[in-house]
Amino acid sequence: MDLDHMKAVALAAAYSGGSYIRSRLDRTRRIDHKGEIDLVTEADLGSERRIIDIIRASFPDHTILSEEHGLTEGRSAYKWIVDPLDGTTNFAHGLAACCVSIALVKENRPIIGIVWGPFTDELFSAVRGAGAYLNGRRLTVSGIDRVGDSLIATGFPYNVRTIMAPVINRLTRCLEASQGIRRLGSAALDMCYVAAGRFEAFWEEQLHPWDTAAGHLIVTEAGGQVTDFDNRPFEPEMKSILASNGRIHHRMLELLDVKGIE
Ligand code: IPD
Ligand code: CA
Ligand code: CA
Repeated sequence: MDLDHMKAVALAAAYSGGSYIRSRLDRTRRIDHKGEIDLVTEADLGSERRIIDIIRASFPDHTILSEEHGLTEGRSAYKWIVDPLDGTTNFAHGLAACCVSIALVKENRPIIGIVWGPFTDELFSAVRGAGAYLNGRRLTVSGIDRVGDSLIATGFPYNVRTIMAPVINRLTRCLEASQGIRRLGSAALDMCYVAAGRFEAFWEEQLHPWDTAAGHLIVTEAGGQVTDFDNRPFEPEMKSILASNGRIHHRMLELLDVKGIE
């Protein structure tokens, strides 16, 4: 299979979905609820339709897993994992921190990752073994090796109200230990910001493959590390994610281990 062609299709799909999201920002937004605090807007659905159409037109045999549409099984070993709008709550409130996230996975390993922020025009991309880039500039994670000097991001899952204690315990421990904590509202961008050296680490629990598959490849190709909270190597189905510059990974795992105090 031609990797360059697959990357070109991923880019075309991300630009098409993201351009649609951008066109909806100043319009009256139709917002529906998937859960009490979990939203879906016409921008999520319109972006998804455009992305799936572009992937299908080039690769009708490939499997596609997309957040709103679900799984469409294909006969090929290739699987596209799509978040058509990561940061829906931000978008619904007119905040620019959102993106399209598209990964191509083979045998459960991401081989292409594309994250495009339609309001910032930042394009994060990675191909396995070929490095990570931001708008054509090669990315490397930050060199900071102390949590006390680190800016760290986290996120709160939609079911946070049912798992408050461990979420707050982890937050408290990381707040005490770090230079600062940010909550951006887009897990895919959080991971890309680790790759770009803006954050030293990002953690969140209860994530989905579409939140993390592209970001994982971008972080690792920038020299960083992605595991779960038990230090198991990344797999797309993993729910608890720690992405870091590698240098503070071990200390972050210790801080996130709240089993004894739950
Ligand atoms: C959400 C965002 C958010 C994270 C949530 C995700 P969505 O994705 O990435 O930052 O905290 O856990 O579900 O719903 O905006 O695609
Ligand atoms: Ca998401
Ligand atoms: Ca989404």
